Amino acid sequence: MKNPEEIKQEKSASPSKNNDLMVQPATDAALDLRAFFVDCLKDIYWAENALVGALPKMAANATAPSLGSAIEAHLAMTKNQVVRLESVFELLGEKAEGKKCEALAGLLKEGDSILEETMPGAVRDAGIIAASQKIEHYEIATYGTLVAFAKTLGENDAAKLLAQTLAEEKESDCILNEVALNAVNIIAAE
Ligand SMILES: [Fe+2]
Ligand SMILES: [Fe+2]
Repeated sequence: MKNPEEIKQEKSASPSKNNDLMVQPATDAALDLRAFFVDCLKDIYWAENALVGALPKMAANATAPSLGSAIEAHLAMTKNQVVRLESVFELLGEKAEGKKCEALAGLLKEGDSILEETMPGAVRDAGIIAASQKIEHYEIATYGTLVAFAKTLGENDAAKLLAQTLAEEKESDCILNEVALNAVNIIAAE
């Protein structure tokens, strides 16, 4: 059995108790949830705009017509989501501006390397779907959080708009699942 002194030493060695691991906030760190919410909106605003730029390349590299049209539809939806985010900024009385989203930048980079690492056809299509679904899941997680933040802050109109986008992201993910199951996986297995 451990004595109290040993337990105390163990506790002080655990990461949650280690002051050396405490991160110093940046000078522009969010002071409250509302400021953090606005920061997160800037992050996804950058991400949606980056997607508008990246989706045409994905569509151009798709072979299955169902995948190409799913990506084209997603592009149109994404452009609308950018406009919807601008409405959210307006509702909050904030300027619509982007802040680089490192997570989405990384996912897009991975998408690019999947294109380089695959021959055009069924396998590249499978890769495009894999990359797209990772992006959708990132968006679903992000909008889920944003809806919760907006509700907590009593920003109900903003919450409604963000919930519309959340529903669209879930729908896009379902469509990609169908495309994968119906077309691409069948061809890949041949
Ligand atoms: Fe989106
Ligand atoms: Fe999306």
